[in-house]
Amino acid sequence: MPFAARITGTGSAFPRKRVTNADICKRLQAIGIDTSEQWIWDRTGIRERRHSDTDNPDEHNSSLGMAAAAAALEAAGKKPGDIDQIIYATCSPDTLLPSTACWLQHKLEAPQAWAMDINAACSGFVYGLSTAEQFIRTGHTRTALVVGAEVLNPFINWRDRASCILFGDGAGAAVVERVSDDNPHRIFSTHLLSDGNLWELLYIPAGGSSMEVTPGRFSENLHKMRMYGKEIFKVAVRTLSDFAVKALESNGMTLDDMDWFVPHQANLRIIEAVAKRLGIPEEKVVVNVDRYGNTSAATIPTALDEAVRDGRIQEGQIVMLDCFGAGLTYGSVLLRW
Ligand code: UT7
Repeated sequence: MPFAARITGTGSAFPRKRVTNADICKRLQAIGIDTSEQWIWDRTGIRERRHSDTDNPDEHNSSLGMAAAAAALEAAGKKPGDIDQIIYATCSPDTLLPSTACWLQHKLEAPQAWAMDINAACSGFVYGLSTAEQFIRTGHTRTALVVGAEVLNPFINWRDRASCILFGDGAGAAVVERVSDDNPHRIFSTHLLSDGNLWELLYIPAGGSSMEVTPGRFSENLHKMRMYGKEIFKVAVRTLSDFAVKALESNGMTLDDMDWFVPHQANLRIIEAVAKRLGIPEEKVVVNVDRYGNTSAATIPTALDEAVRDGRIQEGQIVMLDCFGAGLTYGSVLLRW
């Protein structure tokens, strides 16, 4: 292939409202559900997360995506008019129609781009980045904007104490540009896999075309998330480890070659278990789940953006992105910054 793809700018955005573990405890206790700040911290490593005010258009999914995209474009020295392709990874779209990618295009004013959503849940950003890379490598696309963004709080089931503590809202974005195939600063490889047989571990029963939301289903909370956390935890540790190894081996590298590990931020205990299993030192792991919770498709781009902006990730370093999510979906990307 004559071309390769390189991330040239990142950005992120979060809603204003901080929801601490104390706030969650208060909310659950008000409806008679027992929990504690200590339990949430011990089992998840989350201290707080952000929740969008869905009555505020500035905190809609596409608005957070817009703010993240603007920051990424500025970092890359690009303008909306430079973008050929918008890939928007989300499982909490503004609307089912049109796509949130089109809402973003409308807000961004990027008339020459084509825009589409990807729903791979928490793996969405990695799936989106991999898709953009393929279009860039074939010469179809010169500059892509990949966004991972979620406003999940409307889908949280506040009667399920194991899942309601985890999720937060936010957006991350990356500008991905065409470079020559011999450019050392590039995406080296992407690996993706899904296992639809495990759909039941995390899903929303109603609200799609197979199950309309009726008043009865609404009162049963069928339009809210259902999660089997313990099972996901086990699969996540195994697959994050497997995909990290796959990414390194396919490039003839070892863990010593990797400077930064940016895993999906679902639960700090999952990240720690993977790091321990593989022998990745803590100093190489980028973590933001403590402050933002699990923002699904936004976890990896926001963690990446934070580490780039605070100077941890330096030009020339090897970075691995590693994900899992509902579906189930898995994947990894290895790149040189
Ligand atoms: O992006 C992908 C999305 N999802 C995930 O990645 C989820 C991955 N899984 C997890 O993060 C963890 O499994 C959870 C945080 C969801 C749960 O932690 P756990 O250590 O696996 O707890 P558990 O489900 O084994 O439950 C242990 C106990 C249970 O009580 P009993 O049956 O032992 O009496 C739960 O009912 O903890 C109880 N429990 C709680 N207690 C206090 C569950 N949630 C809470 C809570 N406060 N919020």
